[in-house]
Amino acid sequence: MNPIATVDGSNTLFSTQYNQHYHNIDDGAIHESLSKHIIPAFKFHQDKDELNILDICFGLGYNTLSTLYYIKKNNLNKRINIFSPELNKKLVNELKDFVYPKEFDDLKDIIYQLSTNKYYKNEQFEITIYIGDARDYLEKLNLKFDVIYQDAFSSDVNYELWTKEYFDLLYKLSNENTIITTYSIATPVRLSIYEAGFIIYQDIPIKRKITLAFRKKQNKIGKYVDMELKKQRNKKACALYDDIIR
Ligand SMILES: C[S@@+](CC[C@H](N)C(=O)[O-])C[C@H]1O[C@@H](n2cnc3c(N)ncnc32)[C@H](O)[C@@H]1O
Repeated sequence: MNPIATVDGSNTLFSTQYNQHYHNIDDGAIHESLSKHIIPAFKFHQDKDELNILDICFGLGYNTLSTLYYIKKNNLNKRINIFSPELNKKLVNELKDFVYPKEFDDLKDIIYQLSTNKYYKNEQFEITIYIGDARDYLEKLNLKFDVIYQDAFSSDVNYELWTKEYFDLLYKLSNENTIITTYSIATPVRLSIYEAGFIIYQDIPIKRKITLAFRKKQNKIGKYVDMELKKQRNKKACALYDDIIR
């Protein structure tokens, strides 16, 4: 592992397989996780005292760990169940030695257990990492998620986690109040999410836009994006589909 410091001082890695950093160097790993995923999700679900969270995909675990950090820092009395698939077993095995930011200092035991056992449970948190393909995992799951952190590598290299058929799977695993958070604002990605039945919103947590998606209209967070209008204005725009040969 060859850690790379991001702008907020937290470390990330570069994936030679996907030719991409795990986090945006200019945003900062922990900052990106909190601003693009955790804060919007917890703002939306502030009244709920138990949340089922799907973390796509575990990677270095920043989204899962930032969730725990955010809950502890804000003394939230919520029960959290996190489910996170990840293809790269070697990466997860090595995370016990990764140098995380000081914000995660209190989470050292949890990091060790997740890296070693792929599982952690106490009276407030239950975290399960599934080593394998996310889509196989989602096909088999039989529960509803309140929050979905959609944080795969970008669609040009991690196509299978951005197609309409993939979001169909997420739709089956969502409830009336599910929030999907993602850094991707690409129109084809938004169309994939939209065609799977979700309603698209845009938010600007700090400097960069993000996409949020819900099964029904809401007025707690973000600005509604009219995808029918987008399609009218951009006739060539098209969702991503499993069977399109690229
Ligand atoms: C951008 S990284 C995730 C970063 C992570 N959220 C974090 O905070 O470190 C994307 C991750 O998805 C994993 N991945 C890519 N395709 C996958 C698939 N089909 N199933 C499971 N994991 C996958 C990669 O191995 C990589 O760790």
